[in-house]
Amino acid sequence: MNANTNDLSAFWMPFTANRYFKRHPTLVSGGQGAYFLTPDGRRLYDCLSGLWCTPLGHCRPEIVAAVRAQVGELDFAPTFQVGHPKVFEFASRVARWAPQGLNHVFFTNSGSEAVDSALKIAVAYHHARGEAGRVRIIGRERAYHGVGIGGISAGGIAANRRVFGALSAPFVDHLPHTYEPSQMRFSRGQPAWGAHLADNLERLVALHDASTIAAVIVEPMQGSTGVIVPPVGYLERLREICTRHGILLIFDEVITGFGRVGANFAAQRVGVTPDIIVFAKAATNGVIPLGGTIVRESIYDALMRGPEQTIELFHGYTYSGHPIACAAGLATIDVMEKEGLVARSAQLAPLLEQAVHSLREEPHVIDIRNFGMAAAVELAARDGQPGARAREVFERGVEAGLLLRFTADTIAVAPPFISSEEEIHHMVETLRGVLRKVS
Ligand SMILES: Cc1ncc(COP(=O)(O)O)c(C=O)c1O
Repeated sequence: MNANTNDLSAFWMPFTANRYFKRHPTLVSGGQGAYFLTPDGRRLYDCLSGLWCTPLGHCRPEIVAAVRAQVGELDFAPTFQVGHPKVFEFASRVARWAPQGLNHVFFTNSGSEAVDSALKIAVAYHHARGEAGRVRIIGRERAYHGVGIGGISAGGIAANRRVFGALSAPFVDHLPHTYEPSQMRFSRGQPAWGAHLADNLERLVALHDASTIAAVIVEPMQGSTGVIVPPVGYLERLREICTRHGILLIFDEVITGFGRVGANFAAQRVGVTPDIIVFAKAATNGVIPLGGTIVRESIYDALMRGPEQTIELFHGYTYSGHPIACAAGLATIDVMEKEGLVARSAQLAPLLEQAVHSLREEPHVIDIRNFGMAAAVELAARDGQPGARAREVFERGVEAGLLLRFTADTIAVAPPFISSEEEIHHMVETLRGVLRKVS
């Protein structure tokens, strides 16, 4: 590393304990398949596929080649009043991956922007149909929808709201989350208990009146808060209540989209079709930032009104549909399709389930949850030191060759789909060894 690399002070790290990190840095300087490479030449198995975003592994040659070619051919083009071929092609490919009927794609640069876009589209849709009073958004406790004002308003992670809650959109309310340890601890896949929790939506409708509610937004599986898996029947019931009251249902699939739960989107996995899907992360294998929303034909159509020469939606980002991001996305989808990696994700999921649940009797483990190629091992917190035990697991994991992810005292894993069965076993056995060492 050169001298500048050794100066860690200028970079203000996101969602990180900056002062602690800068005294105990964990650095990666390369990526190769399912591994990060450290500056001192070690390999760390990438247990969370980056931040849930690199299911094809790092430096995938097809994506590298597509990005290289694109940057030399068309490095930037606006998508305001101009088009370029790859943005139309990529939108069509994304729409083909989505459930039937969701066929228009609005691009953003991140999940947070995609969430804000989805909320704005929902409100604009009702406005266009003459229901301008439908402005309320219903989110859910423990939800993570990114860090935009829309996302923190609909989101339900207390730490993200504590300071910024006052900036929150005025018309929001929240469903209860679905995690009830006494009913579902150590469930495999979707818990059997909890479908009735969706009925809380009826209470919110009674409280606020349907005529004020634009949309309900939920992550089909809550990822960032620690892999909270939807109870059997819960999403179906939310769908049914939304339909009955003319409320749009938005699935935030920033984590679950593009194969993570063994189908293109969680919507297809659970057989529930929302009105809008929010995606990001794995859409480009994390190589170039990109997000977006996929909307139902009827939502798009409702806005395609008035004189043909007027702008229908006053919304967009300079980099919406950036050519290099689209090239990375097309290469990602090509590889996923050619190698059947969504099917591979579905095939590996039972193995991951079996392996992580074998940690049940290990020290400090109080719950294990899994859905598709995602799992969480929740540890008892040390008295008065929330997060300290999981941090020690993380640090010992790095020493043992794993890059894990922890939030509070939960360890989450979401391995790359290109992993071998041996790599998944090795990850879990290494984690077992670490848990046995941690006090
Ligand atoms: C469900 C969900 N929505 C939105 C976001 C925000 O995405 P980004 O960090 O790209 O803004 C995330 C990020 O983890 C997420 O998990």
